[in-house]
Amino acid sequence: MIRNRFQRIALGLLAGLGLLAGCADPAATPSPDATPSLDAALADGERLYRTHCMSCHGPDGTGGGELAPELAVPVPDLTTLAARHGGTYPLERVLRVIDGRDAVQAHGSRPMPVWWNVFAEEDGRPIPEEEVQRKINELAEYLRSIQVEPPAPAGP
Ligand code: HEC
Repeated sequence: MIRNRFQRIALGLLAGLGLLAGCADPAATPSPDATPSLDAALADGERLYRTHCMSCHGPDGTGGGELAPELAVPVPDLTTLAARHGGTYPLERVLRVIDGRDAVQAHGSRPMPVWWNVFAEEDGRPIPEEEVQRKINELAEYLRSIQVEPPAPAGP
């Protein structure tokens, strides 16, 4: 009996925390669809983008986010990644840049946060590696979905 009541309170607390977390991140909508699909992954990727990337890379990925003028280096256009790589989306490279851990080892610092480290911890709690990698993959897939058509080859 006591145990049940305790469980109810614990559940209530968890639900409350969930609501609070929902308030802190208005873009976060829990997906009702439990089966992972490309659409769901893209939706998660877009939500992550809006929460973590839009402030610099802009709402449509072309740059011009509100923090961009504060940075010492220009913010690249993320819709021309494929166009700038001969028409092929450079997935491996994008994953590495977002992950960011190599860059830090190589140069000590970069304007863009090291997203692996950001995603690897939430409220002081370590997040499992698979979960961190899933977020990075979803972001890379979302970026793939916003690529502009590569420019047509120059005519005669
Ligand atoms: C504080 C501003 C800032 C935020 C926030 C930010 N970026 Fe960046 N990003 C940059 C800057 C500046 C560069 C170029 C220099 C560098 O690599 O640091 C860059 C480079 C990139 C590149 C490489 C682009 C190219 O042309 O090679 C990718 C991919 C990228 N960011 C993705 C993301 C993703 C995904 C997020 C969100 C998870 C994000 N960025 C959040 C500032 C930011």
